Amino acid sequence: EKAGFDHFMLKEIYEQPKAYRDTMLGRIAEDGKSVNLKELTMTADYVKSIRKVHIVACGTAYHAGMVGKTVIESLARIPVETDVASEYRYRSPIITPDTLVIVVSQSGETADTLAALREAQRNGARVLAITNVVGSSVAREADDVLVTWAGPEIAVASTKAYTSQLIAFYLFGLHLATILGTKDEATVTGLIAAMNELPEQVESILENAPVLKQVAESISHHKSLFFIGRGVDYAVAQEGSLKLKEISYIHSEAYAAGELKHGTLALIEDGIPVIALVTQEELYEKTLSNIKEVKARGAHVFGLANAGSEAEVGKSVDELFAIPKTLPLLAPALSVVPLQLISYYASLALGHDVDKPRNLAKSVTVE
Ligand code: M6R
Repeated sequence: EKAGFDHFMLKEIYEQPKAYRDTMLGRIAEDGKSVNLKELTMTADYVKSIRKVHIVACGTAYHAGMVGKTVIESLARIPVETDVASEYRYRSPIITPDTLVIVVSQSGETADTLAALREAQRNGARVLAITNVVGSSVAREADDVLVTWAGPEIAVASTKAYTSQLIAFYLFGLHLATILGTKDEATVTGLIAAMNELPEQVESILENAPVLKQVAESISHHKSLFFIGRGVDYAVAQEGSLKLKEISYIHSEAYAAGELKHGTLALIEDGIPVIALVTQEELYEKTLSNIKEVKARGAHVFGLANAGSEAEVGKSVDELFAIPKTLPLLAPALSVVPLQLISYYASLALGHDVDKPRNLAKSVTVE
């Protein structure tokens, strides 16, 4: 059932191009000019009445929600807050009937996420669920459901569910933008065209897996490392860091690149690996100056950057892995893939149980 792969995690990483295609299937108009989310029951009038969005989730789904915040804010210009469900519930969130609450859950059974959904509904808000399990509790109780068609995810470490959640956010962001008229037709068409290219672009990243294996093996000798980035790169840095901790048990921290000098830079010493995400063109210069700060303290920097930016980024890093060029908002759907592979190979190099990491369960049904 692992279809020739050594582990479910690796199989699921390789299933991502299909998961992207299946999650987009039937949801994009044939002329490529609009999205069509027929399953949503919310009306256009309701969409126009939304004043704020709360995205609530746990773990990797929360990290997808961090990207979702940027997607909705930039496409629909509605203010978004993203919270971890176990915090949201207990901080008396200000939920009003004009708040759309989006819960994100692969399993649809995570206790804190389900409780947040109920809390939102109790306060009169509508809930949209992004979930991978059609008949799950979250899917049954939400007012609207966007299913991610990633197929069953067996490995404890979430991979294809996360990237399909990103696709769901892109689709929903475009849906909002179309109703609200916040983006012109050319922008919408451009985003859709770029989304259609993502599956093949992931395939090309997967072809370069051997290079990432080497990176993983060198990282596996270290006790601690850092992931840095700005904007959505920072959101992906957090997901990369969680994945690595979860299955390789190597300590790591994700930092917003500009925050390093406010304390964490003190931890950078000779030889420490830093994985820097550099996919957001308008932030290149800023991130490159942060990379210089860590390099000056002896860090070994592995850069993940857009193809075509090698000349610019290459001289600032020790090693560079190029990611196919896409629109800045879509970059997370590509840049996370090398990070998943690095975690996988690091876990393997250290001889851990990749699919069943210690202390963790696939579905967390306790609070
Ligand atoms: O099923 P859910 O998406 O609600 O699960 C949320 C988290 O427990 C989950 O994403 C967890 O963080 C993963 N094991 C991370 O790989």
